[in-house]
Amino acid sequence: MKDLLTRQKALQKSTVSVIGLGYVGLTTAVVFAKNGIPVVGYEIDPKRAQKIREGAVPFEEPMVKELLKESLKAGTFKVDEKISKLSDIVFLTVGTPSDKRDGGIDLTFVKSVSKMIGEVLRSSDKLVDYPVVVVKSTVVPGTTENTVKPIIEEASGKKVGCDFGLAVNPEFLKEGAAVQDMFEPDRIVIGEFDKRSGDTLERFYQWFYEKKMPPVVRTNLVNAEFIKYASNAFLATKISFINSIANIAQKTPGADVSIIAEGIGLDNRIGRKFLNAGLGYGGSCFPKDVRALIAFSKQARYSPVLLDAVDSINQNQGSVAVKMIDEVFEGNGGSKGKTIAVLGLAFKPNTDDIREAVSIRIIKQLLSSGAKLKVYDPVAMPNVEMEFGNSLTYSKSSLEAIEDSDCAIIVTEWDEFKKLEPKDYFERMKTPIIIDGRRIYDSEKFGKALKFKAIGLGQ
Ligand code: UDX
Repeated sequence: MKDLLTRQKALQKSTVSVIGLGYVGLTTAVVFAKNGIPVVGYEIDPKRAQKIREGAVPFEEPMVKELLKESLKAGTFKVDEKISKLSDIVFLTVGTPSDKRDGGIDLTFVKSVSKMIGEVLRSSDKLVDYPVVVVKSTVVPGTTENTVKPIIEEASGKKVGCDFGLAVNPEFLKEGAAVQDMFEPDRIVIGEFDKRSGDTLERFYQWFYEKKMPPVVRTNLVNAEFIKYASNAFLATKISFINSIANIAQKTPGADVSIIAEGIGLDNRIGRKFLNAGLGYGGSCFPKDVRALIAFSKQARYSPVLLDAVDSINQNQGSVAVKMIDEVFEGNGGSKGKTIAVLGLAFKPNTDDIREAVSIRIIKQLLSSGAKLKVYDPVAMPNVEMEFGNSLTYSKSSLEAIEDSDCAIIVTEWDEFKKLEPKDYFERMKTPIIIDGRRIYDSEKFGKALKFKAIGLGQ
C-alpha cells in the first residue's frame, strides 16, 4: 500500500510531453501512458494527429496499437497539434533526416520545435516548476548545446539551469521490437546540462522501471549525443567487418563465414551478436547515422577512414550478390532475359520498411542488366510496388515467385523462406539455382540437391 502511494505521488509529480509523434515519439508516449503517466503527445500534422486520436498507428510496430488504444481509453494519453503548456519532462522526438548534400543531418524540425518550446516558456504563468527539455532525437555531438539551447533561450527570454532544464536521452529502439526495448533497455544514457535535470530524469526512470532499473550512464550533453552515434556505428562496423570476412571466405575453397562467426563470437570480448554475414545493413538508422558521423567527423577535420570503409563495404554488398548471379549465368548469355525470383524486400524481417533496403539496389542492378524479376515479400510488397510499378512481377507467395524461374535469391531472412526445402525449389524452378544472401539454409543439404551459392561460402 505504501508502495502504491509512493508511486502515485511520484506519478503526480511527473507529467510528460512528447513532441513529434513519429515512430520513436509515439512508441515512447504510449509505453509511458500505458503505465499511468499522464502524457501529452504533440503532432504538427493535423491529419496524423487525428488518426492517432482515433487509435490508428501510422506505422507497423508490434504492440503499439494496443498500448495506444488502452492509454486513450484510460485517459492517460492525449494528442494535441499545438504546444500550449509544458510538462515536467518534455521529450523532443522529431526526425533528423539525412541531408542529401553531405550525409549530415537536417535540423529543421529540431530548430522549429525548440523555438516553439521557447515561446511557450516565455509565458511564465504556463510554467511547471522546472520543465526539463530532453532531446531524444538523434543529433550530432554539440547540437543540444549549440543549437537547441540558444534557440530556446532566445525565444523564451529565460535561462537554462535557472528557469528550465536541458538533457539528452538517446533511444536505442529496434524496429519490430521497440516496445520490448522500451521495457527492457540495456542501459539508460542521460546527458545533462545541469544536475537538477539529470536527477529529474533519473528519478522518473527509477519510478518507471523500479526493480528492473537498467544501468544508468550520467554524463554531459555531448557525450550522450556521441554515445548514440558510436553505438550504431559500432554495430554497423561489426556487420561490415563480418561481411568483409565473408567476401574473403567466399573466395577460399572450404571456408564458411557462418562457422567463422560462431568461432570468433564465442570470445567474450567479441560476442556473437551482429556477426550475421549477408547483404548488409539497411533501415532508417544505421546508414543515416554512419553517414552523419562521417560528415561530422570531416567537419571536425578528422578523416574517418574506418567509417568510410564500413559504409562503402555496406553499399557494395548488394553488388556481391548480383555478381554471383552473373557468374552463374556466365557463358549462358548472362542474366539478360533470365527470370530471377527475389525473395524478401524489407530491410530486415518482420517489418514492411524498405528504407535503404539492399533489395532496392539489387533490383535496380538486375533490371539494368535485362533480367526479369519476380519479387515476393510477406508485407513489404506495396512499398516496393510504389517505387517500381509494373517493371516487376509481384508474386503472391514465395512458391509462386520461384515457379519457372532460373535463379532465386534470398534477400531478407523471413521465417517463411527458412521453411522451404530443397525439393520446393527443385520441383518448381526452371533451373534450380539458389543464391543465399542471408545464410538461412544448411549449405550441405541444399548443396547436394541443387546448385547452391551463398554469401561467405567458399566453393
Ligand atoms: C538499429 C539499432 O539496432 C537500434 O538500436 C537503433 O536505435 C536503430 O537502428 P533497426 O534499424 O531497427 O535498429 O534494425 P537492426 O535489427 O539493428 O538491424 C539493422 C540492419 O542490420 C538490418 O538491415 C539487418 O538485416 C542488419 N544486420 C543485423 C545484419 O546484416 N547482420 C547482423 O548480424 C545484424
